[in-house]
Amino acid sequence: MQITINIELMDGPSLQHQIFESIRRQILDGHLKTGSLLPSTRDLSQQLGVSRNTVTLAYNRLIVEDYIFTRKTVGTFVNEHLPESFPVPEETSSPDQATGELHSLRHPVLFKGKSQDVVNPNRRKLDIDFWVGRPDPHTFPTKAWRRILLKNLSIAGSSLTEYSNPVGILKLRQAIAEHLGPARGIKASANQIIIVNGIQEGLNLVSRLLIKEGTQVVTECPCYQGAAYTFESYGARINPVPVDNAGMDVEKLPLGQTSLAYVTPSHQYPMGGTLSLERRLRLLNWASATGAYIVEDDYDSDFRYNGSPLMAIAGQDRNDCVIYMGTFSKSIGAGLRLGYLVMPKDLVEPAKTVKTLMDNGHSYLDQAIIADFISSGFFAKHLRSIRHTYLIRRNTLVDSLQKHFGQISLSGLDGGMHIAWYLPKSFPAANEVQALAEGIGVGAYSMESAAACHLCYNECSDRIIVLGYSSLNEGQIREGIARLAGVLQLKIK
Ligand SMILES: Cc1ncc(COP(=O)(O)O)c(C=O)c1O
Repeated sequence: MQITINIELMDGPSLQHQIFESIRRQILDGHLKTGSLLPSTRDLSQQLGVSRNTVTLAYNRLIVEDYIFTRKTVGTFVNEHLPESFPVPEETSSPDQATGELHSLRHPVLFKGKSQDVVNPNRRKLDIDFWVGRPDPHTFPTKAWRRILLKNLSIAGSSLTEYSNPVGILKLRQAIAEHLGPARGIKASANQIIIVNGIQEGLNLVSRLLIKEGTQVVTECPCYQGAAYTFESYGARINPVPVDNAGMDVEKLPLGQTSLAYVTPSHQYPMGGTLSLERRLRLLNWASATGAYIVEDDYDSDFRYNGSPLMAIAGQDRNDCVIYMGTFSKSIGAGLRLGYLVMPKDLVEPAKTVKTLMDNGHSYLDQAIIADFISSGFFAKHLRSIRHTYLIRRNTLVDSLQKHFGQISLSGLDGGMHIAWYLPKSFPAANEVQALAEGIGVGAYSMESAAACHLCYNECSDRIIVLGYSSLNEGQIREGIARLAGVLQLKIK
């Protein structure tokens, strides 16, 4: 073990006294706890670059004065009963007053903002949790992962001890570029791709590039909290544009200067609508006319159940104005913390600089594994398999809701990992439904609790229940909805 001792080699007290005094003080002020083991005289003399005899003399004095004791062949320890305690400064005012004065001297925290709940705070109370956006842990491709991990570990060499390119290793950026062509219709070079610590880091990176105090930003309404809160934390003035079943109502886009418009066109978060082709083209025209960037958050687009997926807006962009964001959080697992941005060409260089300032890049090994996972074809196979599983779960959820509640109004069925349920007028409000469900061990969520914010509050805002289904098996889904029906029967007017 090592302890921290600063000694002065120049004039002043002897080295022996400095070591004695330093250890004595650390014992008295509690940094060295009673009973804790001290370094041997040999180790401490080597650590400090002094003779062993000097340390032995200091230890002997500490033993004589009852601060430490030696157990033969075991080591030297701090005494349980100390000869004195460290003098505490006299209190001149009440503790509260002292803390208050201290705080008024402290520099204020300049950050102002709030964050979304990433982990459900009540999850331990729940037997069946319809929390949103969670892949099923049983579907994690452990076997293939282990094989690819071991192979990459054995050939990694200096890649594990040296920094790699902060924007991501080339083989991963190439694999993503190749995947995005057929999967999302995006033609991008590896140079435009920036590996990020999930979309959340991408939102911060883009905010650093495009937002300062007072910048106008368009978001959907309702909108993913993680995006709106991030933009606000950089000083953005949010201009919410309402959504309907076909995504953002682009007729309501503002005409003034706007830095960016944030959209989730594949599966609007949280309402689940798909932005129609016509609206995509209008949005692109609006961006060209106003000079705004479009930030396309494609978080769960790997899951499409009805109809063929629409090409990403980035695939239709002819004016280099779309910043595309993808993530492996939904397709493989959020624990990986890996996502990517496809940047318009004129933003590539500034984005590289910001990314380097933010975190110097990512774990080499995780990137290498995902790169091989994609290029060996495992990723495509994995997606086919979980898509099928999630489709069955979505159908089970819809059937269960219909069985217990009859005609219901749902949105977001065409893809993704959750649906939104418009509660009938006779039902309690969403917050109450959530509380009642929680009381019987079921997690069912109001928009607010499901990390969505309704910036333009309307009559729908507290009538929506969001239900994630991807991490629950069919039995759990049926049981969860049956329990919910049981508790709600008593409350329906
Ligand atoms: C709409 C939306 N965007 C982005 C994210 C965050 O993704 P990541 O884990 O890649 O940061 C989420 C997370 O649930 C989400 O719902």
